[in-house]
Order: sequence, then C-alpha cells, then structure tokens
Amino acid sequence: MIKIAPSILSADFTRLGEEVRTVEEAGADYIHIDVMDGHFVPNLTIGPLVVEAIHRVATRPLDLHLMIEPVEPYLAEFAKAGADSITIHVEATRHLDRALHFIRELGCQAGLALNPATPLQTLAEVLPLLDRVVLMSVNPGFGGQSFIPYLLPKIKTLRQEILSRGLSVELEVDGGIKVDNIAAAAAAGADTFVAGSAVFSQADYAAVIRQLRANAEGAFEQRQ
Ligand code: DX5
Ligand code: ZN
Repeated sequence: MIKIAPSILSADFTRLGEEVRTVEEAGADYIHIDVMDGHFVPNLTIGPLVVEAIHRVATRPLDLHLMIEPVEPYLAEFAKAGADSITIHVEATRHLDRALHFIRELGCQAGLALNPATPLQTLAEVLPLLDRVVLMSVNPGFGGQSFIPYLLPKIKTLRQEILSRGLSVELEVDGGIKVDNIAAAAAAGADTFVAGSAVFSQADYAAVIRQLRANAEGAFEQRQ
C-alpha cells in the first residue's frame, strides 16, 4: 500500500548504477528520476541518455518527474529510454489532456505534478485519466529543501476527492520528506513518498526506508 520512491537526485552520480542497485536492495518501490531543464526550474539535471543507462540496471519501475517546458517534444524519447511512469507538470503544458493521452499511448503510466501554490482545481477534469498525482511539497528545482506545511490540508483535500470519486489514483508527495514528518503526510492521505536527501544522506539506506515505511504505514492506516 505505502510506496517509497527514493530520488536519485541525491545519489552519488560517480557511482549511479551501484546506487540504484543498492537502494533497490534496500527496499525502494520506485526509482524517482528528476529531470530538470534550467527553464521550467532553475537547475539542470539529467536527460534520456542517463535514464536509459539507469533502465539497464534497475529492476523497479522508473518514476520520471519531468520539470521541463516544453515537455511534449520529449515524451516519446523518455518512454523509449525506459520510463514506466511519466509525470508532467500542470504548469508546463497548455494541452494537458492531449499530453496525458499521449503518455498512455506510449505505454507509460501518466502522472501529473502540481507546484506547491498551484490549486487542486487545475486537475479536476483530468483526475480520472491519471495513475498518480504528485503534490510538490517544495518548490521544484533542488533536493534537500524543507517540507512546506500548507501541503498537509492540500493532501487531505485531494485524498477526499479521490475517495469521493471512487478513483484509484496514487497520491505521491515530493519534497522534504523525512523520517520525522512522513507520518503527517500519510495521515493526511498520501500513499507514495519521494525521499531524496533523507535516504542518500544516510549510510544505511535499508534502515531509513524501513523507518519511513513504518512511520507512513501506521499513520495512513489510522487516518481519519
Ligand atoms: C525537487 C525534486 C524532488 C527532490 C526530493 O525538485 O522533484 O524529487 O529531489 O529531494 P528531497 O527529498 O531531498 O527533498
Ligand atoms: Zn521529483
């Protein structure tokens, strides 16, 4: 039920293949890959070439988070590189419906990310088309930032919406997730958690992932 998706943005890039294998053995459910373009967000990270290399070593689904604009011209290339899920930003396309259908046609799961200050109303129409919603709990661009507290009521509202519409969309929260705040996000209704610096800053990835999962599971089960 609870999924932990380590973000390789905080991994040691000189040993990327080894890091992916180690974090999978440590219990990662997905490998979260942050793609940044220096335009939609103020940072540059990785492209399809590196995704393709990760795909060769990974056994877990690749959860791609595209922070790029325009995004449409690159969807096919990322699918071909081995993405299992492609998440695009609602703020980065004018033709959301078309882009989401295209991701599905490429054989990938479709995800939609919202920046912290973007209202939930922007996904109302497309919610049934989605495999996951990614609520950004930091302003995208960098790992290691702090969780923005006003995300908690936003997570709660989205969970209620998903339940009331009888959908099975994953509710992923991305940014600033740590062992000591994951329970609050789970209690609000998130079921999937990106964790970059929380995992890769520790020597024992398995211990952190186990702790993150335990804290999230308890809180998710007991949520009101
Ligand atoms: C932020 C990225 C996140 C980030 C998470 O733009 O989308 O996935 O790497 O890193 P932490 O967990 O360190 O906030
Ligand atoms: Zn991300």
